[in-house]
Amino acid sequence: MPDEIKARYFTHATKEYEIAPEVKNLVTFERRNLKDDFSRIGVFDVIFMRNVTIYFGANFREELLERVAKALKPGGYLFLGSSESLPERCGAFSMHTSGGALYYRRAPGGDQRRAAMTP
Ligand SMILES: C[S@@+](CC[C@H](N)C(=O)[O-])C[C@H]1O[C@@H](n2cnc3c(N)ncnc32)[C@H](O)[C@@H]1O
Repeated sequence: MPDEIKARYFTHATKEYEIAPEVKNLVTFERRNLKDDFSRIGVFDVIFMRNVTIYFGANFREELLERVAKALKPGGYLFLGSSESLPERCGAFSMHTSGGALYYRRAPGGDQRRAAMTP
């Protein structure tokens, strides 16, 4: 992480870095069951859902990722775990890589059906 970002968003009182309080205060923590409807909690720029879909069967995984797509703004970002992938038929996202990391973006408009790899 660049020093400028560390200095801006982290405190560094000890050996370890900690997210700055003003950033923490932007976060609301809620316990939710992904099997329940979450369509009313908002529409997000980014969703981190690392190593969660691995617990679900193919049908629910597909349904969940379609619902996650609707919970993202067009062009919004989705991060999954490194061993997770999108279901074949989930066309709402395009796949991207950066610095060895893989992430997905909600199509700016509509369903892309085929995920495209971009550098
Ligand atoms: C392997 S852990 C990953 C935790 C964290 N995302 C990470 O990468 O370290 C899987 C997480 O999925 C959550 N999970 C499993 N089923 C869920 C469900 N139906 N609704 C919400 N969370 C669920 C578990 O509570 C657990 O926190």
